[in-house]
Amino acid sequence: MKWFKAALVSDLASGEGKTVEPVPGRPIALFNNHGTFQAIDNVCPHRGGFLSEGRLKENCVIWPLHQWTFDLKTGENIRNPQVKLRVYPVRVRGEDVWIEL
Ligand code: FES
Repeated sequence: MKWFKAALVSDLASGEGKTVEPVPGRPIALFNNHGTFQAIDNVCPHRGGFLSEGRLKENCVIWPLHQWTFDLKTGENIRNPQVKLRVYPVRVRGEDVWIEL
């Protein structure tokens, strides 16, 4: 496991998500969840939508078209915990956001 710089704090306003690629070819959805930065695999297992385009609600991200919802702490789909995405540790140092991959 290694830490990679993924974004600047100022890249994401509160409530926003963004696709980041701290390692080329490995897209991660990064969210500013009202001041807490959280990271999860970007590709939705339903039909491949980008979770970075999803809407935040409490500690979850909801993909807008089909409503699959993932917990940003555990990566689990809230209706079917067997469907689980990987979540990643995030830390903020100064203006930089780092993700451990
Ligand atoms: S692609 Fe994610 S809910 Fe359909």
